[in-house]
Amino acid sequence: MKHRGYYGGFGGAFLPEILIPTFDELVSVFESAKTDPGFRNQYETLMAQYSGRPTPLTFAANLTRHFDGAKIYIKREDLNHTGAHKANNVMGQGLLVKKMGKTRVIAETGAGQHGVACATMAAKFGFDCTIYMGEKDVMRQRPNVFWMEQLGATVVPVTDGTKILKDAINQAFRDWVTNMDTTHYVLGTACGPHPFPEMVAWFQSIIGIEAKQQILDLEGRLPDRVYACVGGGSNALGLFAGFLDDPVELVGVEAGGKGIDTGFHAARLSSTDAGAGIAQGYKTYFLQDDDGQMKETHSISAGLDYVGVSPILAHMHETKTARFESATDAEVVDALKLTMRSEGIIPALESAHAFAGAFREAPTLSRDQIIIINQSGRGDKDIFTVADVLNDPEWKTFIQTKAAQYHA
Ligand SMILES: Cc1ncc(COP(=O)(O)O)c(C=O)c1O
Repeated sequence: MKHRGYYGGFGGAFLPEILIPTFDELVSVFESAKTDPGFRNQYETLMAQYSGRPTPLTFAANLTRHFDGAKIYIKREDLNHTGAHKANNVMGQGLLVKKMGKTRVIAETGAGQHGVACATMAAKFGFDCTIYMGEKDVMRQRPNVFWMEQLGATVVPVTDGTKILKDAINQAFRDWVTNMDTTHYVLGTACGPHPFPEMVAWFQSIIGIEAKQQILDLEGRLPDRVYACVGGGSNALGLFAGFLDDPVELVGVEAGGKGIDTGFHAARLSSTDAGAGIAQGYKTYFLQDDDGQMKETHSISAGLDYVGVSPILAHMHETKTARFESATDAEVVDALKLTMRSEGIIPALESAHAFAGAFREAPTLSRDQIIIINQSGRGDKDIFTVADVLNDPEWKTFIQTKAAQYHA
């Protein structure tokens, strides 16, 4: 272990000996990129030309009227190429992979958005690409698996453990240990050993830097609160980055699943169910039992059921520089329905947690207050889950007809 990348008592890099030279190389490439204005310029140009940045900040006039409280703005990360904020991190790491001269990338994915973004980046830069995905998530996010494969990636379903994101991360680390010379592990969120939390947050800071300028241009003032959903923490840290030194309340919304009391959730910071521990190469709050065994998590969204959380957010929680709430699956579906019907916007189920958290509080604020909700991704990928929950009869008929065609 080396004493680096700490945020208060969280973070660090708890690595097997064999990975230390690989991490040293990554730290050094990232440190030089971070201090090179030419690199940030190259990154921002790539994001403008390939991913359509800056993403808009949309005034949600109908939702604002509906709640009759704070003015509601939505930061539209769903409009990135591949439909989520994940592209910001992936394209940045892709540039670093080129600098390191490696030829293969691997990644874990939960909702599949990071996997699709990674497969896209690999196709563009000419890297071989393998994506590890828990078998349960493969089932939940089949459309994204299909596109990853069409983009040229190999998708490996992970059948270990609980068959979700944490198991996919373990498998990706196993691969990396045996292929370090050629391969870079494109971790998809602000977790894991140093420098990943800092590096991913640095690439995602593009969200908050843009949002701050956009709200100043539109309203001539800062927002009162900003909301983001929290899986590993990358879109939240990205949005928060624009407002860290400002009198703006930062609110993270975790997966409340079936309700905190039921135990079926993934609320690491907003419940008292998690404890500090060390796993997957870093120290943070994990949902674990008294023996330190990772617990099963639950969320309607495949991207928010990670058992740990960014050490940067764990520190912000302890220092009270950000506030953490949770939203239940049921609240999330209501928020999704309302946003679709009133604004014509389809948030990803992950993002809909941020909407649900904001909707709870918007009516308690006054009309001259402003909030920003980060729409981390678009909801198209969730069609199977949402159609199930809404029990849509025509969708069922469509699936049955398709199934009959395949049997024919
Ligand atoms: C659309 C979307 N939003 C949010 C997340 C959660 O990740 P993070 O907390 O790193 O932003 C995911 C993860 O897969 C996602 O796909």
